[in-house]
Amino acid sequence: MSHQHLYALIEADMAAVDRVIRERLFSDVVLIRQVAEYIIGAGGKRLRPALLLFTANALGYRGTHHHELAAVVEFIHTATLLHDDVVDESSLRRGNQTANAMFGNSAAVLVGDFLYSRSFQMMVGVNDMRVMRVLADATNVIAEGEVLQLLNVHNADVSVDDYLRVIRYKTAMLFEAACRLGGILGGLDEAGQERLAEFGRHIGTAFQLIDDVLDYSGDEAQTGKSVGDDLAEGKPTLPLIHVMEHGSPEQAARVREAIESGGRESLPDVIAAIRATDALERTRAHAKVEAEAAKSALSVLPPSHFKEALLHLSDFAVARDY
Ligand code: IPE
Ligand code: IPE
Ligand code: MG
Ligand code: MG
Repeated sequence: MSHQHLYALIEADMAAVDRVIRERLFSDVVLIRQVAEYIIGAGGKRLRPALLLFTANALGYRGTHHHELAAVVEFIHTATLLHDDVVDESSLRRGNQTANAMFGNSAAVLVGDFLYSRSFQMMVGVNDMRVMRVLADATNVIAEGEVLQLLNVHNADVSVDDYLRVIRYKTAMLFEAACRLGGILGGLDEAGQERLAEFGRHIGTAFQLIDDVLDYSGDEAQTGKSVGDDLAEGKPTLPLIHVMEHGSPEQAARVREAIESGGRESLPDVIAAIRATDALERTRAHAKVEAEAAKSALSVLPPSHFKEALLHLSDFAVARDY
């Protein structure tokens, strides 16, 4: 099932989130509107807002804070993408040129800062200290994850645990925050909120594992991103760690050298080694385990169509090709 199909249940909520996003993008500074509308107008899967809307709805929430907070979560996500594409020197995002390619690195970084700080203004408006704590902690950990990853670049000795820590921080943390916020709005007690956070952590980890698979195997027309970016930067992701652990000495050496030097020249050889060692299947299998753990954590929710959608989204995180 596609994510669009699942979103039918939250169509009206998502339209409201879109309205909030449009309204809150406002600035007197024209370049801010241009850059922000450029990347946000390109769409994206809106997965993190969907998680917040589904969890809040599954708990019978009846208010409007979920629209505001879903927009906050999408703004934070978008800010990280603007910054991430500068750091990763990426040129394709959501099927278009990245903002850094289009407007330059400085504009991308500064508009990312605008979106971060706008999201803080919006969360203050919700006026709930628990909400502010979740989002303040999440943005801080995401920044730690991106810096940790920077430290690991060109390092072929990164362990699976080091790698998992990076993805938990840089990606799973925002999924976790989105789900925890749904739990807070829905009135769950702390233990229940923790279960939803666990759900977010596992589905977010599965999601990033598959992102790292698609970086080697994706169809650019589907993902809207370039294949081979991770290798070009010398990022030691799980598919490469698998080749070094399970491949022949020659395959391991080839991948080690590619991580250490970066660039795209060795991409065909590295992809051959990845194929020969089933490294993508192994990574997918890991993602599947995470998705199953995510589903178990959903036992905290009462039965509903929204809960069913969250179960399906857990599978989508693994099966997706975009
Ligand atoms: C991209 O996230 C960054 C990762 C954490 C892998 P998404 O794949 O959710 O990006 P959009 O919002 O759909 O473009
Ligand atoms: C995700 O990492 C970035 C953040 C969550 C900040 P990636 O660098 O793998 O994401 P893509 O592949 O560029 O979307
Ligand atoms: Mg990137
Ligand atoms: Mg990636």
